[in-house]
Amino acid sequence: MSAALRVDVLTIFPEIFRPALSTSIPGIAERKGAVVYRLHDIRDFATDSHRSVDDRPYGGGPGMVMKPDPIFHCVEAAEAQDPEPAFRILLTPQGERLTQKRVEDLALKRRLLIVCGHYEGFDERVREGLRPCEISVGDYVLSGGEFAAFVLIDAVVRLLPGVLGDADSAKDESFTSGLLEYPHYTRPSEFRGMKVPEILLSGDHAKVAQWRREQAILRTRLRRADLLPEEEKEKG
Ligand SMILES: C[S@@+](CC[C@H](N)C(=O)[O-])C[C@H]1O[C@@H](n2cnc3c(N)ncnc32)[C@H](O)[C@@H]1O
Repeated sequence: MSAALRVDVLTIFPEIFRPALSTSIPGIAERKGAVVYRLHDIRDFATDSHRSVDDRPYGGGPGMVMKPDPIFHCVEAAEAQDPEPAFRILLTPQGERLTQKRVEDLALKRRLLIVCGHYEGFDERVREGLRPCEISVGDYVLSGGEFAAFVLIDAVVRLLPGVLGDADSAKDESFTSGLLEYPHYTRPSEFRGMKVPEILLSGDHAKVAQWRREQAILRTRLRRADLLPEEEKEKG
């Protein structure tokens, strides 16, 4: 296996990550040597006795804002641990919406550094000074970046070579092929009166492949017509 992807996570709640990153595919990816996780507590870089990482907003208004200095110092300390340059990611609902295409691109990097926000978000100079790639996991607001980071990490590490048991499982998946995936069935062939489509029991691989393609197009047309390739959109 090629050199591991290094993922540095900067957070005020590192304890959230330890169980999550050692379970299921993120844990398998680490145990297989495909990824190395490094957690950094932003509070370790606070300069006062209360370990404050937030302060009141200039201009007034509700909530607290994450101060720039602990974040800058934490980023600098994390980056100094390894000569590999890090691709910096700031998690924010104002960022580019995460897509499978972006996930595929991130899986090709050698090092990701992910900054998780809290409260009202970051002092604007974090954006200005660190020039990160700003990523959102969807058009809704979470209370913190930790679960967004976990979404991103999980989506990326499952694409690393050797992580999924069957390398083909990621190929047909929703979004990877540009379509939503076809429906799946397993045993029994009949359950509470609901039958598995005959074609899947036929053993005819070409027909199964054709059925799956048709189902993927149909499902995408019904649920996410915006994803359809142009030639399929024209069919109406
Ligand atoms: C309560 S949110 C701040 C929202 C901010 N006041 C705004 O309106 O844009 C606190 C933190 O959660 C994280 N977060 C919340 N929603 C997110 C999303 N959809 N995608 C990525 N990160 C998110 C970010 O790190 C953010 O700094």
